[in-house]
Amino acid sequence: MRRIGVLTSGGDAPGMNAAIRSVVRNGVFAGFEVYGVYHGYAGLIAGEIQQLTARSVGGILQIGGTMLGSARSEEFKTREGRQKALAHLAERGIEALVIIGGSGSQAGAYALMQDGFPVVGIASTIDNDLPGTDTSIGVDTALNVALESIDRLRVTASSHQRVFLVEVMGRGSGYLALMSGLAGGAEVIVVPEVPMEPEEVARRLRDAYNRGKRHAIAVVAEGAKYDADALAHYFREHGERLGFEVRVTTLGHVQRGGAPCAFDRLLATRFGAAAIAALTRGETGVVEVLQSGQVKAIALEQVVAKPKKLDLTLYELAHTMAW
Ligand code: F6P
Repeated sequence: MRRIGVLTSGGDAPGMNAAIRSVVRNGVFAGFEVYGVYHGYAGLIAGEIQQLTARSVGGILQIGGTMLGSARSEEFKTREGRQKALAHLAERGIEALVIIGGSGSQAGAYALMQDGFPVVGIASTIDNDLPGTDTSIGVDTALNVALESIDRLRVTASSHQRVFLVEVMGRGSGYLALMSGLAGGAEVIVVPEVPMEPEEVARRLRDAYNRGKRHAIAVVAEGAKYDADALAHYFREHGERLGFEVRVTTLGHVQRGGAPCAFDRLLATRFGAAAIAALTRGETGVVEVLQSGQVKAIALEQVVAKPKKLDLTLYELAHTMAW
């Protein structure tokens, strides 16, 4: 195998550039010709492919986002879409692809594998919802962005006796909400995995007020049944007396931008090197993941099979810590 491709797919994550850099430089060092596929699977279908050299990936290590661009492609989920993609790969003699992304992207990799095309995945999503890996590229940076915002909001909350409902990303996963809430000392954490009605959120905030707290933070996952806006709306409509005035801050894509932290750069660099090592051994149909500090290649089946579970012991701990 001489020619390989690399693409980034789904929501961008800080550290994707570091992973591209690692795939390209380790790939070139190992004797591969490396091609970049632009704009994820959509670009693959459109044939947006260009050769990358060790120099093409200079100066990107510390930059968030992805120099290759990313996209979410509905067409790639169809056999016809994938046939177009496979035709472009065959035209350029590309014999394997490294796919950097989260669960949707690895599901795409799995589909390509089932079509008979060799793939190696790299775990990358801020949501940390990819099963089989302790963490993915981008999680630590996004968590620190959320945490810094919570710290800032707590300062102004304390000046005004307010509760801030801080909404964090995570799609259907409560990981970012739980971890930023625990690390940021939130009074209440609302996650999709543990259903909580607005009355219960209000009760917990009132209790915090009655225990003598003069400001509060409720971290709400965007995927919770009641997001931050819905909770604030409910409190207003039902005249809930919390003790605190209510304000809402939705962090949104702020969590995806910015420079990748040291952990994400290092993880991405290790994942990229491991993906090339796998291809050198002729091992495909795997995803590079982190388990107990070790980079491992696990079968793609394992990451597409079932959703990742939230550590509920930490959820309980956050409740105690808010006392
Ligand atoms: O999967 C990463 C993520 O940032 C989720 O947390 C969020 O729900 C989603 O992507 C947002 O998607 P988009 O960037 O397409 O709006």
